Amino acid sequence: MDFKEKKVLLRVDFNVPLVRNKVADDFRIKASLKTVNNLLKKGAMVLLLTHLEADGKTPGLGAVASRLEKLLKVKIKFIKGKIPVDPCEYPERVWLFDNLRLNPGEKKNDRDFAKQLARWGDYYINDAFAASHREHASIVGLPKFLAHGAGPLMKAEIKNLSKFFSPKHPFLFILAGKKFATKEPLVNKFIKKADAIFIGGSLANTFLKKRGIDVKRSKVESVTIPDDILWSHKIILPEDWKIGEGSIYDAGPKTIRTLAELAKNAKLVLWNGTLGLCEKGYTYGTRELGMTLGKSKAFRLVGGGDTVAAIRKMKLEKNFDFISTGGGAMLEFLAKGTLPGIEALKKK
Ligand code: 3PG
Repeated sequence: MDFKEKKVLLRVDFNVPLVRNKVADDFRIKASLKTVNNLLKKGAMVLLLTHLEADGKTPGLGAVASRLEKLLKVKIKFIKGKIPVDPCEYPERVWLFDNLRLNPGEKKNDRDFAKQLARWGDYYINDAFAASHREHASIVGLPKFLAHGAGPLMKAEIKNLSKFFSPKHPFLFILAGKKFATKEPLVNKFIKKADAIFIGGSLANTFLKKRGIDVKRSKVESVTIPDDILWSHKIILPEDWKIGEGSIYDAGPKTIRTLAELAKNAKLVLWNGTLGLCEKGYTYGTRELGMTLGKSKAFRLVGGGDTVAAIRKMKLEKNFDFISTGGGAMLEFLAKGTLPGIEALKKK
């Protein structure tokens, strides 16, 4: 693509946490800066598209615009409200459209809305790996109407996550969080590929209970875990824990020692989900694991919104070879090997 004086619609994922209308964690914004700067260097005008949704609310992106301007150190044009039907002209080289989800057509993957977006630009680039599991207009609709491609962050996510499809061994998978149903396809797939799958977080409570272990008042899910998974020698569960309010809220030191031993010998480590309930202050397991991984010679990848936020708060980013921007998208990509947004880019 020749970008000189061309308008590039760049789909990014700036779905960042806002606290009192300020960006509370700018990891995802920072992850896109290189892409924006590269396009600017090639003479393009960069038209940024993103959604932001928390607790079903779709706030305006004023706070994101200010943070972006500070980080990029260039003046940006913030196009407030719904996307105007007719494209306008502005002198700035970087424009940020307001929250895409303020437009009803976005989530509905409305063809006319995608066409309306397409009129603003010459090219479409998807660098929003973290949103590419959504069949929304800006992800799967827009590439039908413009010459398109994948951005460098998207490519880096695909390259690094794909290392786990034909893995080097020993391969340790650390999977925590909740909702077995959403993790089951992943466990089914990786039980064949990994040498050990450590199950942590509240997911572990369900596994422990099914194995007949007393989990006190911990919440357990009423799901069926197939016997070949529940009793697999590859499934590693916490051996000890920290209790709060009568429930298991974190992993204990024996568990961390087992994980440290597995990590020491591993060539690949994939981690998604905090080991403890960090929002209630149960950060011990997550911090210890993050620290111990710093000593491992394995290729270490971590992802998931809460996990990455915890790692960043603990300043342990340097202990990882790649930090994925994806949450749900990372899990879906690992389970299926592709995403709707990636497939959409393959079509002419
Ligand atoms: C994420 O944070 O996982 C992505 O930005 C997708 O957000 P969504 O769940 O609101 O579609």
